[in-house]
Amino acid sequence: MLTIVVAIPLAVLVRHLISPAYDPREPPVIKPKIPLIGHIISIATEASGYYQRLFKKYRLPICTLPVLNYKIYVINSPALIAAAQRSKTLSFEVFIRHFFINVIGVPQRESAKFADPKWLATVSKPLAAGLSGESLREIAAVGLGGIARELNAVTGEKGVRIGDVEGWLTDMLSRVIMRALYGEKNPLSVEVHRSIWEFDKKIFLIALGLAPKLFARKALAARDEIQKVLAPFYLNRLDEGEDVSAYVRNRAATKRATGTPSEDLAATEFDVAWASVTNTTPTMIWTFVSIFSRPDVVERIRTEVLSVTTIDNNTATIDYSRLQEQPFLNACWQEILRLYNDGQGTRFVIEDTVLRDADGQEYLLKKGAVALWTVGVSHLNDDIWGADAHEFRPERWLGLSPAEEKKQKGAMFPFGGGKHLCPGRMFAAIEIIGFVGAVALAFEVEDVTVPEMLTPYPGAGVRRWKWGPGGPGEVRLRRRKGWETMEIKFSTEGGIWDNSK
Ligand code: HEM
Repeated sequence: MLTIVVAIPLAVLVRHLISPAYDPREPPVIKPKIPLIGHIISIATEASGYYQRLFKKYRLPICTLPVLNYKIYVINSPALIAAAQRSKTLSFEVFIRHFFINVIGVPQRESAKFADPKWLATVSKPLAAGLSGESLREIAAVGLGGIARELNAVTGEKGVRIGDVEGWLTDMLSRVIMRALYGEKNPLSVEVHRSIWEFDKKIFLIALGLAPKLFARKALAARDEIQKVLAPFYLNRLDEGEDVSAYVRNRAATKRATGTPSEDLAATEFDVAWASVTNTTPTMIWTFVSIFSRPDVVERIRTEVLSVTTIDNNTATIDYSRLQEQPFLNACWQEILRLYNDGQGTRFVIEDTVLRDADGQEYLLKKGAVALWTVGVSHLNDDIWGADAHEFRPERWLGLSPAEEKKQKGAMFPFGGGKHLCPGRMFAAIEIIGFVGAVALAFEVEDVTVPEMLTPYPGAGVRRWKWGPGGPGEVRLRRRKGWETMEIKFSTEGGIWDNSK
């Protein structure tokens, strides 16, 4: 009896000490089934699927998940996500710092810099500048030239059989993107590039710091392998080469100007290579299977691409800048981003912050908490997209009134937003849309299947997939009748694809 008398108040006291206090203006609290740690177990095991499940059950625009003495605010409403992305008191910088120090493993002498917001802003500038305007046109030209070369190698009526469509697209894109970014002396061969995937799968584990040397041994070795290959590129100043993209060249130059020695650039510039492919490749795979498994969709895209193609003797030149005017192709692109992107935004609340929803309801986020959102909740919300939200239906993007278009576009966050809006979004769109446009124009693709859609790896931005029992199966790519020897080219003299509108 005495034990109970002592134990109950003690348990209440301990619970009180390690449970956070709430202000009534904070978002509604969802208590976990397993006290204190239930939410963290679900996040670790279900990743973004957990936030989907909570939204289906509670339909809350924003909620608070208590974890021990901490709070995680999960934002679901599009207007609140946009407000969080714009907020100056919700900071991404803490996570950037953690990522570079603990996940990428920058040398200790560099790590202090990542705590300086001014330095971070300085070294971030070349990213957007290197991926827009004339710099973007230059890398787009190299990238599309690479795509044309890959496709022009497939000639004749028989074409090629592709046993592993996933590997084929991954390797092709890595060759094209790395060449466009790093120039002729690109150190990241397809083989080395595969290490990026080994690393990417385990980022979350490494970030958590739970014995990564034990549980993420291969991923750490893959990361070190890439840095080893990048080291001579920076040590020998090959990044200053004329055919190296402004994105890679100016970022390294800015870091050197702030005192980073060349021998540290392989580590601190690792993100440049990693960010360029990790979301782009799975998006390319989803785009390819979504389009080429549907003959009616291919036919409509083919007609649109043909309308911006000039045929002269045996050369077909696609004016890729005019691809962005093609309504159905654009609708397919939006629909693929909506269905398959499930990236997560994470911010640290550095000051008490009030966010206002579209209906005027305000929510207080307390200093010291973490705010996050997973865009799949908004991208698949049936209140916004209707009962067929889980289906690929490009028509939902056509013939919209301005109000409908505003509602749909306002619920889309495939490339983030605010200060950290993805600077590579146009480059990714150009490569992917240029590729599928050219394939639709000149090829027949047979036997493509769409895999089952899964949640992304924790921390990744695009959904994974599961092929049926026979794997992806064998896909055949062959020239269309009359296109057997036609050389494909892209004209890159026009304006750039701008999907930010
Ligand atoms: C379909 C392809 C892509 C998707 C879905 C995507 C998505 C994203 C998202 C969601 C963010 C913001 C993260 C946040 O706010 O928490 C981001 C940031 C970034 N992305 Fe992309 N991305 C793609 C392609 C690319 C490419 C091709 C490049 C480079 C060539 C790139 C470079 C970057 C960089 C450097 C950042 C960091 C920006 C900053 O923090 O200021 N991305 N991306």
